[in-house]
Amino acid sequence: MKVTIIGSGNVGGQCACLLACKNIVEQIVLLDINKGVSEGKSLDISQMLSVVKSDTVVYGYTNDYSKSKNSDIIVITCGITRKQGMNRDDLLNINAKIICSAAKNSLIFSPNAKFIIVSNPLDIMTYVSYITLKIDYKKVIGMAGILDIARYKFFLSKKLNISCSSIQSLLLGGHGDKMVPLYRYSSIEGIPLKEFLTEKENEKIVSRTKKGGEEIVNYLGTSAWMAPSISIVEMIKSILKNSRKLFCCSALLNGEYDINNLFLGVPVILGKNGVERVIELKLNNKEFNLLHESANHIKKVINKLNI
Ligand code: LAC
Repeated sequence: MKVTIIGSGNVGGQCACLLACKNIVEQIVLLDINKGVSEGKSLDISQMLSVVKSDTVVYGYTNDYSKSKNSDIIVITCGITRKQGMNRDDLLNINAKIICSAAKNSLIFSPNAKFIIVSNPLDIMTYVSYITLKIDYKKVIGMAGILDIARYKFFLSKKLNISCSSIQSLLLGGHGDKMVPLYRYSSIEGIPLKEFLTEKENEKIVSRTKKGGEEIVNYLGTSAWMAPSISIVEMIKSILKNSRKLFCCSALLNGEYDINNLFLGVPVILGKNGVERVIELKLNNKEFNLLHESANHIKKVINKLNI
């Protein structure tokens, strides 16, 4: 199995590192337009691998897409990241152009690959990749829900003083301020969350989750990369091993949730074909309206696309 990661910045580099340590793929290729970055990071990662006893081979190249030939999965992380004071939508047109070019160049050498999109604004960049690639929609998936749920679980675990690994949750909507963590579908090992905290208390945690990315940008001056990277690795694992795990990812909706032709965070089953199934939950009015607010926001941003 071969995975190519386009963009060897913080997210791409960390993703290659975590994936290589798992010893589940034969080959990882890192590509970047900045000379030497992929080469240097691939060497550094390669030099870790005897320590963790991984046989994965990691290569890095400057902008040479031919090296990505026959990849099973292409991960697109390239583009600019937001700086303090920016929101994800501010990156729209500059990243759209970068992502279009990365998608086109990757497809030439890996026509059968599945694509995981990570660049922001996430749901729109996933849509841009899909309309550029013109491949089966099941093969184009955006990473966001796993990350946002991980943040939600972390904040919940702090509030409740319960291990985050005992928390289950789902989240719908776009990767932005209008994401919809689902209180009703959250539990502690199956015990409904409402047994532990009120909806009002939950609202505070939801607000912090919505601003979770920004909180880190404010500390670091750039976007997060550790939690995003491990989220990508989990998606890669489920696809390559055909595990059919349920994750919340940005997937194309074809009428589910009364939404058409839009990529939005929903629970999906990830397997060897990419999105094997979109799970449609029975939402109450409040959840349905919040999801549609998020969808409408994404539509508005798509209308500002200039590609
Ligand atoms: C974040 C960026 C990766 O949420 O969107 O941290």
